[in-house]
Amino acid sequence: MTPDRNEGRTQNDPSGSKASTWQPRTGNPVDEAEVRTMFDRIAPTYDRLNTLLSFGSDGRWRRAAVRATGVRSGDRVIDVACGSGKLAAELALAVGPPGHVTGVDFSPGMIEVARRRQSALAQLDFVVANALALPVADGSFDAATIAFALRNLADFEAGFRELARVVRPGGRVVCLELSLPRPAWWGRLFHGVFRRVSPLLGAAVGQHEAYRYLPASLEGFPDADRLAGTMRAAGLVDVRYRRFGLGSVALHVGSVRGA
Ligand SMILES: C[S@@+](CC[C@H](N)C(=O)[O-])C[C@H]1O[C@@H](n2cnc3c(N)ncnc32)[C@H](O)[C@@H]1O
Repeated sequence: MTPDRNEGRTQNDPSGSKASTWQPRTGNPVDEAEVRTMFDRIAPTYDRLNTLLSFGSDGRWRRAAVRATGVRSGDRVIDVACGSGKLAAELALAVGPPGHVTGVDFSPGMIEVARRRQSALAQLDFVVANALALPVADGSFDAATIAFALRNLADFEAGFRELARVVRPGGRVVCLELSLPRPAWWGRLFHGVFRRVSPLLGAAVGQHEAYRYLPASLEGFPDADRLAGTMRAAGLVDVRYRRFGLGSVALHVGSVRGA
């Protein structure tokens, strides 16, 4: 994975003001219980809309996330905020039956869908828990992943600290997340379209409000460069990232210190 050529540039105030003291958010301001209820509600339709909104690319991005973990047959992996379990299932195929994957999500509705859809993989299990307080011992996994979910957490840095805590020294933490495309004019255009199209698609499946939250959760989210800084602040080392989908998605990878 090569460093992004935009690395080192700072994120601008989305209003375009040069004199601004604007700072990106450090966590999701929306109440956790509200977020959980919303994901419970959209659990049955989430996969379909996700594939539509990504123009069918989400599978390819998830497989890139699996490769970025560097996991091998027999390894143990935790996929945090796993939703319906698509990434967890890809990870389970990579580690095979000698390995094990634990998918964790705080939405019981999502976990129910995940258990039903991914029941064919014996090396995969699902647990209801909060990403900020994982019910597992320090260093129990060879890698941890979080996909399209970090921006939902109340504290992004605390999220990375918790992922790093449960991974052994030298193991990797991988984050696949929506991002702010560059240059700034393209980012603004992209967001404008995303803000309008997402609720329309949501309305088509009776989930207008939930799919207004989706683009809103990206407002003020740190750009890829700052997110790499958040990972370093959480103690991760060798942090790097690459972009997909015309910059609308970023894949960040860091290692737990002390191999
Ligand atoms: C957009 S979905 C992504 C699901 C899946 N990772 C994927 O790639 O499709 C976000 C998921 O994060 C979960 N989530 C949000 N905040 C969480 C938290 N604090 N702890 C655990 N899960 C959380 C939601 O319940 C939801 O299933």
